[in-house]
Amino acid sequence: MSIRIVPTRPYADQKPGTSGLRKKVAVFRQPHYVENFVQAILDTVGERLRGATLVLGGDGRFLNREAAETVIRIAAANGVGRILVGQGGLLSTPAASALIRSSGAVGGIILSASHNPGGPEGDFGIKYNMANGGPAPEEVTGAIYRRASALTGYRIMEEAAPNLDRLGETRLGEARVEVVDPVTNYAALMEQLVDFDRIAGLFRGGFRMRFDALSAVTGPYAQEILERRLGAPAGTVVNATPLPDFGGHHPDPNPVHAEALMAEMMGPDAPDFGAASDGDGDRNMIVAPGLFVTPSDSLAILAAQAHRAPGYSRGLSGVARSMPTSRAVDRVAKRLGVPCYETPTGWKFFGNLLDSGRITLCGEESAGTGSDHVREKDGLWAVLLWLDILAATGQRADDLVRAHWAEYGRDYYTRHDYEEVDAAAAQGLMTALRERLATLPGTRFGGLTVEAADDFAYADPVDGSVTAAQGVRILFAEDARAVFRLSGTGTVGATLRVYLERFEPDPARHALPVQEVLAPIIAAAREIAGIEAHTGRAEPSVIT
Ligand code: G6P
Ligand code: ZN
Repeated sequence: MSIRIVPTRPYADQKPGTSGLRKKVAVFRQPHYVENFVQAILDTVGERLRGATLVLGGDGRFLNREAAETVIRIAAANGVGRILVGQGGLLSTPAASALIRSSGAVGGIILSASHNPGGPEGDFGIKYNMANGGPAPEEVTGAIYRRASALTGYRIMEEAAPNLDRLGETRLGEARVEVVDPVTNYAALMEQLVDFDRIAGLFRGGFRMRFDALSAVTGPYAQEILERRLGAPAGTVVNATPLPDFGGHHPDPNPVHAEALMAEMMGPDAPDFGAASDGDGDRNMIVAPGLFVTPSDSLAILAAQAHRAPGYSRGLSGVARSMPTSRAVDRVAKRLGVPCYETPTGWKFFGNLLDSGRITLCGEESAGTGSDHVREKDGLWAVLLWLDILAATGQRADDLVRAHWAEYGRDYYTRHDYEEVDAAAAQGLMTALRERLATLPGTRFGGLTVEAADDFAYADPVDGSVTAAQGVRILFAEDARAVFRLSGTGTVGATLRVYLERFEPDPARHALPVQEVLAPIIAAAREIAGIEAHTGRAEPSVIT
């Protein structure tokens, strides 16, 4: 067994974004590209690696297996004591987070580009998670980037990595490589949080559900948990086999990309409950019969009802949402008398709040919901918590949503995305908007009056760090809001996201078409930001 030291030159673009290093597959296929970045991660972790456990897995997309083998060979050559890898190189992101925590690992490497398309023309990604199971914070990703930019070589085992399909332990150099079932540990954790017997009772009573895994990593998890352990009929989970190109699906669980699920749930023979997850299993989409539940509403409903599930029976210590997420959960927190934190976009900002026990539940408009059980958002967990709440209340999912609105009011919400716009034009729009902020309060747009306008900055209450320029917020006096920010996860040009919402307390006005209710705010947002003038786009490319 021998270690080879391979001289390389650094790549200048290995800067992790919102969620790890995410690029086109072709970029990752450049010589030594994967190797350099993995070495930079391990160098950044440093001495703590020696003899320690490292968790490894990915969402099964194109390049997953090759990259996993490379990580194993490099990790073994860098003194890692034990590498815990999911069979076939697979682990959903929440399962990886859970495994890091339960195995006492120093951290984990997750191979995923989340909800971005896969296949040879699609995207790939590498992300480092810390010992708490959560994404590396900015000072660590910054250090990884600096190391990657200065790298002159990497260490790798000459020998091939072990067969990732065979469960069990082998050695590579000094390292133990353990191939584990990717589902077992995760399913055991879920059993502690929600009442499996109660949910099984729901299915025994004829409850029908559709779970669309979008040919991505949650297929095996959903089949094991929903169909085998909870007794949902075979075929409840569709598109259950993870494929390198996700079967051509865009594995992003929203009404646009999960259109087959939407069609079924809006149809005459809709099942009682519909759900989907994304490429790496951390996002979720919830659909009641005839009614799409926005992630913002889902977070609020889970916050209001979580105490029914065994894992949350003692109530919540607090909740958090990302800034562009609607304020529906704030209303629940107020009623519960617990704090509600507003963080920048990106799951990593919840880490300190969860670690310090300040919050139990958190979520984002981008289809992420989670709790203190792991340090990632967790798609299947959200689905199971919903099921347990339905089982406990005996309510239909759509009735539960309407009852929630009747009690708290409805936050009408939509997101308009302008994808693949020219990066300089998008920056120009944001700069111009920021320069105008001070002049906006008091001005009128259509029937709306700007009450306040700012560029969101977050001061972390735990470590005091300040993260500035996280998106522009325009508050209207009419209890409405528009938020503008540029996506941090795109790989082509820039994506402008415009988040629009309006609060409606009157139950008689809770069943109106969303885009219609929000039309005045949409028009105001377009005018305030000069979207067409800057980007040349009269209409968004995706509306969710
Ligand atoms: C990833 C992160 C989320 C974040 C989302 C935002 O999914 O894990 O925490 O909300 O990206 O993406 P965006 O494209 O809006 O920057
Ligand atoms: Zn994801």
